[in-house]
Formats: sequence, C-alpha cells, structure tokens
Amino acid sequence: MAKYPKFLMEHFQNPRNVGEIHNPDGVGTVGNASCGDIMQMFIKMNEGKILEAKFKTFGCGAAIATSSILTERIKGRTIEEALKISDETVKEILSHLPKEKIPCFTLAREALKLAIEEYNCKQAGVHEKGGFDSKDLEKE
Ligand code: FES
Repeated sequence: MAKYPKFLMEHFQNPRNVGEIHNPDGVGTVGNASCGDIMQMFIKMNEGKILEAKFKTFGCGAAIATSSILTERIKGRTIEEALKISDETVKEILSHLPKEKIPCFTLAREALKLAIEEYNCKQAGVHEKGGFDSKDLEKE
C-alpha cells in the first residue's frame, strides 16, 4: 500500500474548504476519465483577488487532500498568482503521490482553471453561466 506524507494525510483527514459557494463568480467541473469521479471548484472574487475557494468531489483521498491544499493556497491571490501556485503545487505534490494517483490531483488544477475561465468570461460579458450544475447528476 502506498505511503503518503504527513501533510497530505492531514489534509485528507481534515479537509479545508469543502462545500459550495453561494452565487460564485466561477465554477469549474471536471471528471477523472480513469475512475469516473467528479470534481467541482467554486471561486468568489473581490477586487481582483480570490476571496473564497471551495470544492466538492466524489473523488478519493488524494483528490480531497490536494484540493484542500490548493484551495488554501489560492485564497487572497490574484488569478495570475493562483494559476502559478496551482502549477507549483502540482509539481510539489506529484513528487509525493504514486503514479496512479496523478489524475486525482490534476482534477483540482483543471477544475480551478475552468472556474477562472468562467470568471474571466463573465468579466468580459461573453458568458452568463458556465460549468455545470451538480443537480444534473441527481437521479429522479
Ligand atoms: Fe477517482 Fe482518485 S480514484 S479521483
């Protein structure tokens, strides 16, 4: 069985920023093609900085821990800083994860990118609502 470093285990056991943001400025939803799990990332902006970042996922412990770390790190940052942090965090965490877990972590980064894309589109006035509604997943 794979061993995970302490800081990843801590975020898995006590994940931060789990949930949804009411009336978000950007939402990104992605799926992990290898396992079928889904990740949704929400951002709320204030004066060009990320005020709040939250996530919801059906994913595994690695997806939860890495999303918790990423959402913590991007709060209070500009979009450009958040994207840079996201890339740096991927490099840092990937060195600690077993190869088969790589798609689980990249979920958070890809969902964040889509949330930022939606925010940028809204700012430019070219997109009213993007992403995806988790209610679409519910069965009647
Ligand atoms: Fe599905 Fe990790 S196994 S997100």
